[in-house]
Amino acid sequence: PKAVTVPALLAKRAAGDKIAMLTCYDASFASLMDRCGVEILLIGDSLGMVCAGHDSTLPVTVADMVYHTASVARGNKNALVLADMPFGSYGNPQQAYDSAVQLMRAGAHMVKIEGGAWLADTVRLLVERGIPVCAHIGLTPQFVHQLGGFKVQGKTGEGAERLKNDALALQAAGAAVVLLEAVPAALGREVTEMLSVPTIGIGAGPDCSGQVLVMHDLLGVFPGRKARFVRNFMDGQTSIDAAVMAYVAAVKDGSFPAPEHCF
Ligand code: KIV
Ligand code: NA
Repeated sequence: PKAVTVPALLAKRAAGDKIAMLTCYDASFASLMDRCGVEILLIGDSLGMVCAGHDSTLPVTVADMVYHTASVARGNKNALVLADMPFGSYGNPQQAYDSAVQLMRAGAHMVKIEGGAWLADTVRLLVERGIPVCAHIGLTPQFVHQLGGFKVQGKTGEGAERLKNDALALQAAGAAVVLLEAVPAALGREVTEMLSVPTIGIGAGPDCSGQVLVMHDLLGVFPGRKARFVRNFMDGQTSIDAAVMAYVAAVKDGSFPAPEHCF
């Protein structure tokens, strides 16, 4: 297998090849996922919830993200390593650059930030300095207190318009990937068709360029409430390798997400 790069992701988008991404927080799982064909390993700030037991991602620091990113990078060979910028680490473009540099030094190949068109200047500054960016829109968990919970976004005509404008502005600013979380499947499809960069969906329907799940949800070990878009891939499997391979296969052949996972 060859290293997954930013141009390789764009080529997959152009060819219509689905992209399989999973969250990953340590070296052993990085090695396993990489070996099983996962193309993007996301060190999600969800680690604050699934690893540290917080009830949101807000307590996660840049130091936490650096520690886990370095761990994942050591276990990985070919996957693209994507690190979340945690809450409070990209309040303005200069702060975003300083935070992103720490994550890139730890072994990230791309960073992810949550927010819409207002982040365009930040995306531009990072990309101009060699830091690929994934823009995360829709349900953005760092905004949980503003959103009033982990709720589906883009359900109204106005919300859908805003999401589409955000996606276009972030692509124009240089985002290499747009991640869509918890939006109606029809909107996931519309945004994907509008953009030339790949979209990665979680609860955004089957028509995104790729899919992502939190690994603890895929393995059925997260004790919290199970979101609609989650599927436990351990069902019917006897090893974690087999479950991860089943996930990759289901993303590639379009059988995940199924209608019951969509909004
Ligand atoms: O932190 C995370 O795990 C994420 C994914 C849910 C997209 O951002
Ligand atoms: Na995240």
